[in-house]
Formats: sequence, C-alpha cells, structure tokens
Amino acid sequence: MHLVLLGAPGAGKGTQAKMLENLLDIPQISTGDMLRIAMAEGTALGKEVQDCINSGNLVSDAIVLGLIKERLEKADATNGAIFDGFPRTIEQAEALGHLEGVSIDHVISIDVPQENLIMRLSGRRTCRDCGGMFHIVFKPPVTDGVCNDCGGELYQRADDNEQSIRQRLEVYSKSTEPLVRFYTERGSLREVSGIGQPNDVSNRIASILDEN
Ligand code: AP5
Ligand code: MG
Repeated sequence: MHLVLLGAPGAGKGTQAKMLENLLDIPQISTGDMLRIAMAEGTALGKEVQDCINSGNLVSDAIVLGLIKERLEKADATNGAIFDGFPRTIEQAEALGHLEGVSIDHVISIDVPQENLIMRLSGRRTCRDCGGMFHIVFKPPVTDGVCNDCGGELYQRADDNEQSIRQRLEVYSKSTEPLVRFYTERGSLREVSGIGQPNDVSNRIASILDEN
C-alpha cells in the first residue's frame, strides 16, 4: 500500500506516520527527516539545503525526487510506503504518479487550525537518536530533554522558530495546499481532523483505510 499524508507543518504527519508504520508494516518515508540527516552528517547535500530548510523554504524538486527514488529501491519499501511531507508541489505529485511500482492508494489530508499548528511547532522536541517526537505541553518527556524511548537527547529543530514557522505556513498554503485539489480531482483524497489525541487521529485514518 502507498499512502500519502498531506498536512500543514505541525499537523501531525510525522506522529501519525510513525504510528501507522506499526499498523501497516510499511516504512515511513519522510523527506524532511532524510534532509535533516544529511544536514546532521554534514554531507554535500546537507550543506546545500541547510539555509533553505532552516529559513522555511522548499528545497528543489530535483533533490527531493532523487532522494525518493533512492529510498524506494530499499527492500523494506517493496510492499509500500507512507509518504510524510512528500509530495509538496504539483511537480512532485506528477513525478510520483509516474514512478514505476508506485500507485497511490490513499491520500489523507490531516486538518489542524493555524493557531494549534503554531503551538505544536514551537513546543516540539525531537530525539536526536530515534526521531521520537515530544511536546513540552502535549507530550512532555518523563525527564526534561531526554527521550522516553531510547534515552537520547531531545532537541528543538532549527526551523521551529517564529520566523521560519511563519514562512513554512506561507509556503504550505502557496505550494502544497494546491495538492488537496489535485488529489480530490483524482478521487483519492480524504480529509481527517487532526485535533484530539494522536490515537484518535490514527483511529480516524485507520477507519478510512479499512473502508477499502
Ligand atoms: P518536514 O520535516 O516535512 O516538516 P513540515 O512539513 O514543516 O512538518 P513538521 O515535521 O514540522 O510537522 P508534522 O506534520 O510532521 O508534525 P509532528 O508529527 O512533528 O520538512 C521540513 C523542511 O524540509 C521543509 O520546510 C523543506 O524545507 C524541506 N522539505 C521536506 N520535504 C520536502 C519536499 N517534499 N519538497 C521540498 N522541500 C522539502 O507534530 C508536531 C508537534 O505536535 C509535535 O511536538 C507532536 O508531539 C505534536 N502533536 C502531534 N500530534 C498531536 C496531536 N494530535 N495533539 C497535540 N499535539 C500533537
Ligand atoms: Mg514531520
């Protein structure tokens, strides 16, 4: 199964993708996570995209499509994938539609009002080691700054500052929101409310997947 999770920054794409990985037994493919790993490792790609990501702008379609093609060749993606944060432009969606061996079964748009998004992003903490997601108010770790799951260090993403958040929300509405219409016209889009406990949201998504 190939599933696309659409949604604004902070809508909960990463949180839901991680929960759905276990349920569906297919991997989360997050272009944002892949790009942040490249930045953390200081690769040429990481250096190239760093300013763009930290300021809240999109990296080029060519770079992202290269990462996706490479990732889909790995054995764990043979039976499908959960795309998190990809596609993000009409060009990326068209390219995804032409990739051999990929047919998109579901596109789920997670809807969360803007005021909640800003609260979620500014309080998010992420584990450097396992990528686990926390929030200083909504999902605080047992010990400050330490991941409950693996004991790794929790950090705040460089693009989770007020100015970059504002830019990411603007870029989302200009470049990514048109995908709602793109996939609606193709009959594959379903919208779910992203409000409530993460478990409530994943139950909503699971019941859509169960319908088919
Ligand atoms: P990316 O990493 O994809 O970031 P994003 O789209 O801005 O989304 P986020 O990861 O910030 O939010 P999320 O929806 O995953 O929410 P989360 O689950 O963490 O991309 C980063 C950058 O990389 C882009 O700006 C761009 O530069 C580049 N990039 C990536 N992909 C690209 C592409 N395809 N093309 C071009 N450039 C690309 O949740 C957020 C917080 O809320 C957490 O603290 C969580 O604990 C909390 N939370 C989650 N669910 C709930 C809930 N139900 N109730 C309360 N709190 C909740
Ligand atoms: Mg994410």
